[in-house]
Amino acid sequence: MTAVTFPEDFLWGAATASYQIEGAANEDGKGVSIWDKFSHTPGKIKDGSTGDVACDHYHRYRDDVALMKRLKLRGYRFSISWPRILPGGKGRVNLEGLDFYSLLVDELLAANITPMATLYHWDLPQALEDRGGWANRDIASWFAEYTFAVVKHLGDRVKFWITLNEPQIFAILGYLFGSHAPGVANLHNYFPLSHNVNLAHGYGVEAIRSETRQAQVGTVFQTPPIHPATNSREDARAARNMDGLLNRWYTEPVLLGRYPEDILKLLNTIDLKIETGDLEKISQPLDFVGLNVYTRMFARHDPNVPFIESTLATDHKIQDAQYTAMGWEVYPQAIYESLMRFKEEWGDPVVYVTENGAAFEDSLKDGEINDSRRVQYLQKYLAATQKAMSDGVKVKGYFVWTLIDNFEWTEGYTQRFGIVYVDYATQKRIPKASAHWYRDLIEANGFDLPG
Ligand code: FCB
Repeated sequence: MTAVTFPEDFLWGAATASYQIEGAANEDGKGVSIWDKFSHTPGKIKDGSTGDVACDHYHRYRDDVALMKRLKLRGYRFSISWPRILPGGKGRVNLEGLDFYSLLVDELLAANITPMATLYHWDLPQALEDRGGWANRDIASWFAEYTFAVVKHLGDRVKFWITLNEPQIFAILGYLFGSHAPGVANLHNYFPLSHNVNLAHGYGVEAIRSETRQAQVGTVFQTPPIHPATNSREDARAARNMDGLLNRWYTEPVLLGRYPEDILKLLNTIDLKIETGDLEKISQPLDFVGLNVYTRMFARHDPNVPFIESTLATDHKIQDAQYTAMGWEVYPQAIYESLMRFKEEWGDPVVYVTENGAAFEDSLKDGEINDSRRVQYLQKYLAATQKAMSDGVKVKGYFVWTLIDNFEWTEGYTQRFGIVYVDYATQKRIPKASAHWYRDLIEANGFDLPG
């Protein structure tokens, strides 16, 4: 047994996202999001489900906050649904939408839980997608308009603001691979689009700061370590290129004020449509960075892939490694490696781990869920977090993904990531063993690592 301990004021919490838990897809004036449209398109979601009802959190938020309180959470990271606030994406503000988040925030504060709000966790108003969505440079000012409306209303009570959740994931899956909403696969548009995403972050930061001075402003990255599939020199280069495309293309403009030189070289035939002043906007100082961590990835050389000549080796499996129900390798070192990169390469910001967790096939036995694999997963990743902290990374908090089982994007309801089980037929919440373990950890600010 090794004792793993954390500082007294460490912000222990759980994270969720609007489309994954709220439901109430057509209530109180909410507009349609790209995920509403996408999930209703036959064949897009594994189990044919949608987020129409999800965990019905929109109606059950009081009970859900009471549950968080019982679990001793100190922080709660949630996201705001843009089309609830601006049904048409811009223009008219829907006060009923704002009210929902206002009541949620009051409920959290009354329970002594610090709210951390993400402005964009992937549910873009369909009305904006119809105008080109992230491919339209105007998205930066649309995002600022939306951000301003939200922060004006909640900024007196919410102190932690996050602009975008995992920019590269929604840009790549949504607009390059087309596997996520809105289902576009357009290589030609992708790079200028990615610049619009980064620019929107910058406009968002500015909008938050213009409305409140006391805010802690940040953004959330997922920067999985990308390792070469073999020892060959080609694969090493492929891994580096893939890391540039997936990770550095997003962290570096925001944290260092420039696009990575090696990737710019590879893209020299593309007009990125970067305008004077853009990089200054994108790289305004932040108060913290959020980091989401699940696993690592492998890359191999592939001459058929334009520009980066690299592909993700999704078939590359490690013998004897454990895999989650998502097929993701349990690799606790991922959290250590990612955290160290922020310290060593990306300006040494204050970091909150804003998501970390795992899906396993949980089963309900005699009213209980003994998810020991999830507990072990969390223990290992937290021990690696602790190690990064003792090596100097300024980690100030940790949010488990996720509070309750929910709609896992294209996986529908087939993947359970929660520390609390949801019986979707009755919407009953049943804390899993991991929730009890997490509560004890929070109370003690640490845990004993077996072995
Ligand atoms: C992250 C997303 C989150 C959830 C987890 C499993 O990439 O931010 O919404 O789907 O993966």
